[in-house]
Amino acid sequence: MEEDEEQTEEMEMYNYVGQEIVIQEGFDSYAGMIWPGALALSQYLDSHRSQLNLMDKAVLEIGAGTGLLSIVASLLGAWVTATDLPDVLGNLTFNVSKNTRGRCRHTPQVAPLSWGYDLERTYPTAIYRYDYILAADVVYHHDFLDELLATLKHFCQPGTTLLLANKIRLDKCFFLKLFDYSVTVFLFILLFHRAH
Ligand SMILES: C[S@@+](CC[C@H](N)C(=O)[O-])C[C@H]1O[C@@H](n2cnc3c(N)ncnc32)[C@H](O)[C@@H]1O
Repeated sequence: MEEDEEQTEEMEMYNYVGQEIVIQEGFDSYAGMIWPGALALSQYLDSHRSQLNLMDKAVLEIGAGTGLLSIVASLLGAWVTATDLPDVLGNLTFNVSKNTRGRCRHTPQVAPLSWGYDLERTYPTAIYRYDYILAADVVYHHDFLDELLATLKHFCQPGTTLLLANKIRLDKCFFLKLFDYSVTVFLFILLFHRAH
């Protein structure tokens, strides 16, 4: 590699559901990196298989980033749709397809979903009903917090379980707003980070 040539991609290896998962990371956006929330939820899903059985369940991930969590849910037998902003779907599609082809009961889908945008037209509630919504580290400093709440509200129908893992950031009251929604079970893994 030339001295001034920047490395833009890196492969990271993980092991969940007894399978080796290779994730291509990119460093041009937040979506290209694996965040602590994705690792926490992947570990949780893998180690709580008997309590939280994802077999044949309809699962939607929002802000899926590299796709690690969606891959783990797929390997656990769920019918998964991994979503993110349209311009980051290339790497997401690459990782999901590379790690699930021939290994999963249901082929996972990758689809665009911009929080708060055109939800009822693109994902009408009468048609799209999910057993689980996965959200890992989607709460941080960005301009779409209201749209994120509206998106969770849209998909959290009666009978839906929201699994959210996030480092504590911003005003902690933000997280409490999520409890306003009528979700059957609400798993909330908050990752505490001690500032230096
Ligand atoms: C901090 S990253 C977390 C990625 C992944 N969930 C993880 O934990 O590794 C936040 C993710 O939310 C996505 N995102 C940010 N704003 C968004 C928006 N307005 N609509 C949809 N996705 C968005 C980003 O593209 C990115 O993939």
